[in-house]
Amino acid sequence: MSEAIIIAVDGPAASGKGTLARRLADHFTLRHLDTGGLYRAAAVRLLESGGDPADAATAEAAARNLAENDLKSPHLRDEEVGQAASILSAHPPVRAALLAYQRDFAATPPGAVLDGRDIGTVVCPEATGKIYLEASAETRAARRAKELRLRGVESIESRVLQEMKDRDARDSGRAVAPLKAAEDALTIDTTGLSPDEVFDLALSYIAARVG
Ligand code: DC
Repeated sequence: MSEAIIIAVDGPAASGKGTLARRLADHFTLRHLDTGGLYRAAAVRLLESGGDPADAATAEAAARNLAENDLKSPHLRDEEVGQAASILSAHPPVRAALLAYQRDFAATPPGAVLDGRDIGTVVCPEATGKIYLEASAETRAARRAKELRLRGVESIESRVLQEMKDRDARDSGRAVAPLKAAEDALTIDTTGLSPDEVFDLALSYIAARVG
């Protein structure tokens, strides 16, 4: 049995996973892994070489050949990259290529907070605590549009909303490791909540499990 404390934070795009995961990691002095970043890094690598994310073999090669630098690409958070990551992440060999890295990261003492889509269900089914965040697509699109504005990227909110819905459908509908709450996860709807309120709810739940 691993001595690591593992906290899984799953949910759709812009549900608040990253913010919550970082805060929990700080609070419990754990490492943090944004697993979406791995799929995004594979997407950057693939798009830069002109590849098609729908092609399984090309996508798998991009995932297997990930380098440290891909994770630092300035394009990592681009919407186009998010969409490509969503497409390539549906290929089972891509997921298989990234699984061991995520599990090793989680199991290394003192443990970690991982955020993603399938952490509580597939990557770390034995996690110490599992949280699933959700929020209406409209709320999430407004958050994403604001985030883009802060980065100096102008966006049309209706388009962001449509892309969000497309991504939700793809991430939830795929055959392997679809986005869904683990049966034993605490689900928090963040629609009307501030980041502090979400953190407080998550903290009381996790603190009871960490002891
Ligand atoms: O969380 P994000 O928006 O950075 O993730 C980008 C895409 O990567 C997401 O649309 C689906 C995929 N992903 C995944 O399939 N599994 C994960 N654990 C994390 C992300």
